[in-house]
Amino acid sequence: GIDVSALLKETGFVTLDQGFVNTASTTSTITYIDGDAGILRYRGYPIEQLAERSSFLEVSYLLMHDELPTPQQLKDFADKIRVHTLLQEEMRTFFSGFPRDAHPMAVVSSAVTALSTFYQDALDPLDPEQVEISGIRLMAKLPTIAAYAYKKSIGHPLPYPDNSFDYVENFLRMTFGLPTVQYDVDPKVAKILDMLFILHADHEQNCSTSTVRLVGSAQANLFASVSAGINALSGPLHGGANAAVLEMLEQIRKDGGDVNSFVTRVKNKEKGVKLMGFGHRVYKNYDPRAAIVKKAAQEMLSTLDRPDPLLELAFQLEEIALSDDYFVSRKLYPNVDFYTGLIYKAMGFPTKMFTVLFALGRLPGWIAQWTEMMNDPANKIGRPRQLYTGSPEREFVAIDKR
Ligand code: ACO
Repeated sequence: GIDVSALLKETGFVTLDQGFVNTASTTSTITYIDGDAGILRYRGYPIEQLAERSSFLEVSYLLMHDELPTPQQLKDFADKIRVHTLLQEEMRTFFSGFPRDAHPMAVVSSAVTALSTFYQDALDPLDPEQVEISGIRLMAKLPTIAAYAYKKSIGHPLPYPDNSFDYVENFLRMTFGLPTVQYDVDPKVAKILDMLFILHADHEQNCSTSTVRLVGSAQANLFASVSAGINALSGPLHGGANAAVLEMLEQIRKDGGDVNSFVTRVKNKEKGVKLMGFGHRVYKNYDPRAAIVKKAAQEMLSTLDRPDPLLELAFQLEEIALSDDYFVSRKLYPNVDFYTGLIYKAMGFPTKMFTVLFALGRLPGWIAQWTEMMNDPANKIGRPRQLYTGSPEREFVAIDKR
């Protein structure tokens, strides 16, 4: 019943664009997306080439420093990260304060905020050197924090990082290793996880990245801004979708595996029933990351002794959806998260950790976007306008008269 056009006239030149469907909040040189053509590039390099030929740390450098590194630059970058993987001992006790069933995303975002308390003399968002070391600390310590969040949830002792391993191997070793059992990282698993991190590393002004920028625009420090981004990512419409996909597939299997009847429920728009892992604000074509992940899922799951029945359900769902007018007319295609959960599950991660893995991958993008904003002379505090639709002026009524 609200006359929006009258309100717009009254407020002058305020634009109403709920959900920022068509409003750019910034210029950026980091990531290019053509949603209609299904194209994604980081600093001009196609995602397909980066996924196949690069490494997560190389891509992180590219995002954070504009250009691909030389061998020496990459070594220096990796070495800097390597020496910062340890958490302060006090941080280790921090994890014991949470209940064992705490969601790891809540633990991780809290721990990232807590990290800043150890570096209070190096948080100035306007000092490039302090920003650089904050970025290195975050890159180095987030895998340790993520592994601890998992270890805490299963009541295992918290290991120390072992810097003789590379970035992803160190994380896998901390997550799945035990002091009592020899644990060897499967190089194939490490390679696929590294590639998945590349696919998640940036995606321009998505919900969590916009959050990181908005918080940073108030000159909050990098830790505070990234922690806010992690919380945004936890939502099921954003990073939480990878876990929601697996829950959806498991539910379909429990209900007898009838994919068609599930699709009918989606099409009937039953409350809370969506085809998770489908649809995207920007891609109106196959998400290029989803195509790469689908191939990786097939590869990863073919190595299992028993193939995962959920993969078969996912294939069926995709096939039905891609030939159904409901999805075709709305341009709904699988997004990056449709198949990632199946891979993470095959790697041994519990569902609750899936979104944490997304955060590990997205971290260099957040850092790069935050830094780009801070270095932009046109940057100012983010402060959206609104159209007020509440009550007109009225007289206060004393409490005994209400
Ligand atoms: N299942 C069923 N219907 C859908 C889906 C879906 N997954 N996604 C969109 N639709 C429908 C909507 O109901 C709407 O239909 P209508 O026109 O009849 O009302 C139409 O498609 C347009 O959808 P919007 O909600 O307007 O699209 P929006 O851009 O706002 O949302 C989003 C994008 C949040 C990703 C949405 O597609 C969704 O909820 N998908 C499932 C969750 C998901 O996979 N999120 C991960 C996103 S990618 C990422 O963060 C890595």
